[in-house]
Amino acid sequence: MIGLLNHVAIVVPDLAAAVAMYRDALGGEVSEPQELPEHGVIVVFVNLPNSKIELLHPMGEGSPIASYLARNPDGGMHHMCFEVEDILAARDRLKEQGARVLGDGEPKNGAHGKPVLFLHPKDFAGTLIELEQV
Ligand code: CO
Repeated sequence: MIGLLNHVAIVVPDLAAAVAMYRDALGGEVSEPQELPEHGVIVVFVNLPNSKIELLHPMGEGSPIASYLARNPDGGMHHMCFEVEDILAARDRLKEQGARVLGDGEPKNGAHGKPVLFLHPKDFAGTLIELEQV
């Protein structure tokens, strides 16, 4: 069911410093910062030949990643995102298997304007998983 690894998301305490590290030290191709107020984050994508790294920085009050940064002041890996062809079919299959879908279980529009869902990390070896319909 899961397809390509669409991205790995890293929470960063200093977006400019993280961009400089990925662009200048690692030689990556980085996007312009994109504000996603409905998700409470600013994102920068590092475009790799086979996937992407999503640099996440909190935006506004009550950002869902603020508590992550409070626990991990240096930042760290936050989630990974797999592509699926049919997100509602994927959701129903996962629920049948006993996996917990976060929120109200309805897909939201993600950073690429495509429907996404998140799965509970306790059901996936301690890793938050995002599914994106492509
Ligand atoms: Co993501």
